[in-house]
Amino acid sequence: MTEKIKIVGISGSLRKRSFNTALLRAAIELAPPTMEIETVDARDFPLYDDDLREAGYPQAVDAIRKTCAAAQGFLFVTPEYNFSTSGVLKNAIDWLSRPPASPVIGKPLAVMGATPGMGGTMRAQFHLRQMAVFLDMPVVNKPEVFVRQAADMFDRDLKLQDESTKKIVTQLLESLERLVRRYAK
Ligand code: FNR
Repeated sequence: MTEKIKIVGISGSLRKRSFNTALLRAAIELAPPTMEIETVDARDFPLYDDDLREAGYPQAVDAIRKTCAAAQGFLFVTPEYNFSTSGVLKNAIDWLSRPPASPVIGKPLAVMGATPGMGGTMRAQFHLRQMAVFLDMPVVNKPEVFVRQAADMFDRDLKLQDESTKKIVTQLLESLERLVRRYAK
C-alpha cells in the first residue's frame, strides 16, 4: 500500500464563521485516503519577535514546528486583507521560516482561498506564491482555487455544498500529493 503523506493546513482567518477555515475543513474531508491533513491554528503563534526566537523558540511555536517538521507538504488557506494575505497567516509563516532547520523550506505547498465577493483571495494567493519563492517551496500551479461568493457555496453550518468547488478542491489535493511524491524521490 502507498504510504500516507502528511500535510499541515493553516487558515489565515481567526473568526469563528470564517469561510476560509470552513474551506480547510472541507479539504480535510475531501482528502484522498493516502493523505492526512492536520491543522495548525494561526492563533497559537505569538507576534513574531526575533528576540524571542533567539532566546529559544516559545514552547507553543516549538511544538508547531515539530508538527510541521513531520509533514511532507503544506496547505495555506487565505482570505484577502488589503490586497494581500492576512497578518496572522504571514506571522505564522514568519515563525516557520526561521532557522535552525525551518520545517517549511523546500517542501511542496498548495494554496487556496474563499471570499464573499468576486475577486478577493486572488491577490492574497499571489502574495503567498511570492513568499514561496523565497522559501524554496514548490507550489501547485493548477488548479487555482478561488472560492467566490462563498456565502452561496457553504450551508448555514459552513459545510461546503457546491459540487464544482468540491471537485476543484479535490483536484488541488491530488496535485499536491503528486508534487509531494515527486519531491520525495
Ligand atoms: C477584508 N476584506 C477584503 N476583501 C477583498 O476582496 N479585498 C481586500 O483587500 C479585503 N481587505 C480586507 C481587510 C480586512 C482587514 C478585512 C477584515 C477584510 C474582506 C475579507 O476578504 C472577507 O471578510 C473574508 O470573508 C474574510 O475571510 P474569512 O474570515 O471569511 O475566512
